[in-house]
Amino acid sequence: MHLTCIVGARPNFPKMAPIIDAARRAGIETTLVHTGQHYDAALSDSFFAELDLPRPDVHLGVGSGSHAVQTAKVMEAFDAVLDQRHTDMVVVVGDVNSTLACALVAAKRLVPVAHVEAGLRSLDRTMPEEINRVLTDQLADLLFTTERTATEHLVREGVSEQRIHFVGNVMIDTLLKHRATARTRGVLGRLDLNPRNFALVTIHRPSNVDSESPARNTAAAIRVLGERFRVVVPLHPRTRSRFCQFDLLDDLIAAGICVLEPQSYFDFLALMDNAAVVLTDSGGIQEETTALGVPCMTFRENTERPITITEGTNQLVGTDPTRVREALDEILQHPKSGRIPELWDGHAGERIITVIAAPRGGGGASVSEGYGSSALGAAATCQT
Ligand code: UD1
Repeated sequence: MHLTCIVGARPNFPKMAPIIDAARRAGIETTLVHTGQHYDAALSDSFFAELDLPRPDVHLGVGSGSHAVQTAKVMEAFDAVLDQRHTDMVVVVGDVNSTLACALVAAKRLVPVAHVEAGLRSLDRTMPEEINRVLTDQLADLLFTTERTATEHLVREGVSEQRIHFVGNVMIDTLLKHRATARTRGVLGRLDLNPRNFALVTIHRPSNVDSESPARNTAAAIRVLGERFRVVVPLHPRTRSRFCQFDLLDDLIAAGICVLEPQSYFDFLALMDNAAVVLTDSGGIQEETTALGVPCMTFRENTERPITITEGTNQLVGTDPTRVREALDEILQHPKSGRIPELWDGHAGERIITVIAAPRGGGGASVSEGYGSSALGAAATCQT
């Protein structure tokens, strides 16, 4: 069996690493395709060495562009890859433009698609990621979920339950594997930080930074944290460029906010693990802080990851700086302890490969029929 595994942007790398690792241990061949959606060393290269990801076999080099241009460039380039290379299945993760683009190319060529982290829904179609999630799930033959609400969304959208497999969270596989190493890297010492006496911020959603008024709000919220803590802000390139455009960056630095370049996986993990509180609009960081037991304030009006709120340490605080101040007071007085969600145990990658490797029933069946078969369902020990 041969899997073609797609990565494109920063959040994809920690999700794909345990899948490739498990595939190799099961004797399954993989081709790793990097679309090049993220191309900076800080957003891409450093992750390969730290996460033991193999070098990409194919690099599409698509770079930045509008959503349409970026998606179209990935599609065109990936179509050419599938002309050249045989594959039995394309594996996509998450919800970035590269995820949808490659799923669409594969589906049109009748190549089976596995979507890891399926079924998450913010129910907010102003988020480009929500559109990517909904469409990728409609195209996928195998859908791997991280929490049970995701299965419910998929069933409501008409996906056959036989295709859905609740396997846990591959990003947490990676976090658990590398947590001890990250602690030894000395990032706290280099930044002169003490455990639990600083706040960590990552904000990069277009809705929070692309126009001036939300960007000012975001900067104001960061300064609210600065009233109580030293604040560390590794800045995504999108946020840096907007903060510069709206003259917000110098003021933050003058206010004593520690503004950094995007951090490597190990250093960012160590920062999260030791923070008093995290303020973020990222999806994955809501989950990682839940796994680490660190309080997280999500700087958004909704989340596609409700288990981080119902079971974890996350809470939605919206985007009003006053609300951030109130939530921070509440967290400092009554920190939420949270618990680790079901199957976030470090073995999601292995479960995924067990399902993928299981024999497909119905010789001669269509791709979809084959993957909806009872033979596959029976092999999935963790199926909902
Ligand atoms: C993408 C994902 C988002 C994810 C984020 C993680 C989509 C729709 N969005 O958003 O879900 O949370 O990655 O970082 O796929 N840039 C660089 N260097 C790079 C890459 C980008 O400077 O290596 C700059 C470019 O100016 C680019 C901008 O960042 O225009 C945005 O990059 P893009 O990949 O379009 O989206 P992200 O905002 O990173």
